[in-house]
Amino acid sequence: MSKSIIHLQSVETQQILNISPPQTGLSLQGTVKIPGDKSISHRALMLGAIAEGETVIEGLLLGEDPRSTAECFRAMGAKISPLNSQKVTVQGIGLGQLQEPLDILNAGNSGTTMRLMLGLLASHPDRLFCVTGDSSLRSRPMSRVIKPLQEMGAQIWGRNNNSLAPLAVKGQSLKPIHYHSPIASAQVKSCILLAGLMTEGKTTVTEPALSRDHSERMLQAFGATLEIDSKTNSVTINGHPKLTGQTVIVPGDISSAGFWLVAASIIKGSELLIENVGINPTRTGILEALEMMGADITLENKRLVTGEPVADLRVKSCQLKGCTIAGDIIPRLIDEVPILAVAALFADGKTIIKDAAELRVKESDRLAVMASELTKMGAKITELPDGLEITGGTPLVAAEVDSYTDHRIAMSLAIAALTAQGKTIINRAEAAAISYPEFVNTLKQVCGDQN
Ligand code: S3P
Repeated sequence: MSKSIIHLQSVETQQILNISPPQTGLSLQGTVKIPGDKSISHRALMLGAIAEGETVIEGLLLGEDPRSTAECFRAMGAKISPLNSQKVTVQGIGLGQLQEPLDILNAGNSGTTMRLMLGLLASHPDRLFCVTGDSSLRSRPMSRVIKPLQEMGAQIWGRNNNSLAPLAVKGQSLKPIHYHSPIASAQVKSCILLAGLMTEGKTTVTEPALSRDHSERMLQAFGATLEIDSKTNSVTINGHPKLTGQTVIVPGDISSAGFWLVAASIIKGSELLIENVGINPTRTGILEALEMMGADITLENKRLVTGEPVADLRVKSCQLKGCTIAGDIIPRLIDEVPILAVAALFADGKTIIKDAAELRVKESDRLAVMASELTKMGAKITELPDGLEITGGTPLVAAEVDSYTDHRIAMSLAIAALTAQGKTIINRAEAAAISYPEFVNTLKQVCGDQN
């Protein structure tokens, strides 16, 4: 392809992504390497910091969110090597040994950093911590973790009746509880389990549907004792384990793979091999949803890497069909709803996504933003209180759209733009670096855009 179709323009601190696909002949080809899993990267840094001895992390996501986690734990005494190579080492300081930081801890854009970290901070007696984040994070609900932590005896103050950051935490000796979470949230579950590490006895979390279980897997690998009851979606942790540093090999993030799975499915003549993708069953909702839509995806070279299942995914284009995505599958594809909405635009018939009201409190209100930005591109998409209704088959037209500083919105719109006639302008595209700093380079690579 001689003419550049993807052009990234920097304007002060913001980036504008311009995408002008050729009118015919674009197909995506090649082998794609995706960045490390964001959820596993955060957990490896945190558990490494509170374990004894050295943790070696291979394949850590070098995105903005894990950088926020690393900065926070450095400020509390953990020695973490620079996040500039695929191998990062953490010198742990031991359970209960986080130091009182000299300044405010800044979780940036990362809900996982703030919510998981709160469990640890609240359980460190006699230390005071202040935590904040960027404007998106400061508007996201923290009461979902503050309430159960308060039940355990935590002292936490924040704006809006103790529900929004900035937060002040006065560490306490906490007591174990059995928490019945009203939402299936891995961040809530993990926060309580991390707080439970420092209690005398057993702390249990029961959730209405199973959310991602990376914390459970990694806590056990570091030496904690857990009891898991899959019938009731309950997990129990025993307090005061001995945590020992480990080697963690982080698989590729299936949430990042999602962009290529959908792009290759909807662009005729495409075939991509996406290597080294984490296929933990609590994360593979996107594969099941695309299968319901008739996608052509095969899993090759399945293997287990430091406790997490991994495979290479081969995807070929094919005609998708509409379906309903609802119920217990939602927590297992929660971050993939924006890109699944793009897939639905190319499916025969209607796709309905329900039971996904949680999307309204992500990095942006993802239901409202996907509906508004895709409507600008000519899509037939209606916002529901807890989801989206999408009618496929209407060709997209180029438009000027915005990421609302949400990484997954920026990347989903970029994939939609590959199919739209004309030049799409995506404002605030720099958000992609939160979870996928190499996104634009890989987009160029799969489009054969050498310019
Ligand atoms: C995450 C859990 C999910 C997900 C987020 C990462 C985690 O959030 O959306 O991107 O690493 O635990 P919720 O727990 O709020 O559903």
